[in-house]
Amino acid sequence: MLNSVNITKDVHYIGVNNRTLELFENLWPLPHGVAYNSYLINDEKVALIDTVQGDYFYEYIDKIQSIIGKDKKIDYLIVNHMEPDHSGLLRAITKLYPEIKIVGNKKTIGMIDDFYRINENVETIDEGDVLDLGNHKLKFYMTPMVHWPETMMTYEENNNILFSGDAFGSFGTLDGGIFDDQVDLHLFEDEMRRYYSNIVGKYGPMVQKAIKKLSDVDIKYICSTHGPIWRNDLDLVISLYDKWSKYEGEEGVVIVYGTMYGNTGQMADTIARSLAQEGIKNIKVYDASKTHPSYLLSDIWKYKGLILGSCAYNASLFPPIRELVHKLKNRNLKNRYLAIFGSYSWSGGGVNNLEKFAAESKFELITDSVEAKSSATEEDIKGCIKIGQVMAKKLKEDKN
Ligand code: FEO
Repeated sequence: MLNSVNITKDVHYIGVNNRTLELFENLWPLPHGVAYNSYLINDEKVALIDTVQGDYFYEYIDKIQSIIGKDKKIDYLIVNHMEPDHSGLLRAITKLYPEIKIVGNKKTIGMIDDFYRINENVETIDEGDVLDLGNHKLKFYMTPMVHWPETMMTYEENNNILFSGDAFGSFGTLDGGIFDDQVDLHLFEDEMRRYYSNIVGKYGPMVQKAIKKLSDVDIKYICSTHGPIWRNDLDLVISLYDKWSKYEGEEGVVIVYGTMYGNTGQMADTIARSLAQEGIKNIKVYDASKTHPSYLLSDIWKYKGLILGSCAYNASLFPPIRELVHKLKNRNLKNRYLAIFGSYSWSGGGVNNLEKFAAESKFELITDSVEAKSSATEEDIKGCIKIGQVMAKKLKEDKN
């Protein structure tokens, strides 16, 4: 596929699709693949913005040379983000274009040395510096921890293009459509939230800082390193990122339970039915053994209500619930209503450990936990119904 995609006259998308990788960062399932986006500015001076993952050398070089030819040199490689899904071809590019200058901030330059043992032909830039390519001028904004400490964004001043690194990115390949007005955004919104909640979500305050820093910048295109290029509905993508990084939840409830033989699962269904009877429509019920935690985190990021259930397992939490709780703690998610249920079995360890998590978390535990002794009694069922009622009431009060 050698036909390049113009964003503007001289600015080109030269990204690639990965449909074979099973796990992003060797952790996160990719049922719809992932796109690694890179960009080329063909001015008096030629600049690349980031590269792509290391397996795509020939496809990537062919795309570059279909635009600039085989003889023209590349002057700059701007590294907005060092994670190897974007710096994977950095070393290969320096070998093919030995005069190329690598541009990054102080942290980036150190990391390039650490990752690739490259410390020559580098140019260190800082906040507000401008790189002149001829007709195009690039200004640099430091946006640390969106997603790694060295992350920065590059703003092209003439066409108002923000090269945003991972920010505003998404899982999912670009299957023909490259721009937001060429794809079904409903598919991308779910994968964008899964990307955000799992990859960037821990750094909400830093995302907020970045959004504020860029609030006065006139942006007409957002070119992320993953997912579609935004040129039509920038308000949508910015408002989603704003909401997620402020930990704002929509009306709705995620119930996640861990069960061996179904008793805790039955309690989950009772709670879900109670919520529905109280008028809550967005209710997602998950068996934690069945659904990968990345999907659980994504929905928990979306909705304000969270109800966790665990049976006891070896006097502790059921392992998939323990993993989920660990991920929630790690990401510092805040501002959620929480309720807890589970079964004691013969040892306990499910409900009491979830209560320990509740005490340490920034969630509001809204009502008494319900712990059945193996299977739920009439009293336990009443307790589950009450969890649904109290949760629904809290969500409705928020709305009013
Ligand atoms: Fe797409 Fe943080 O790398």
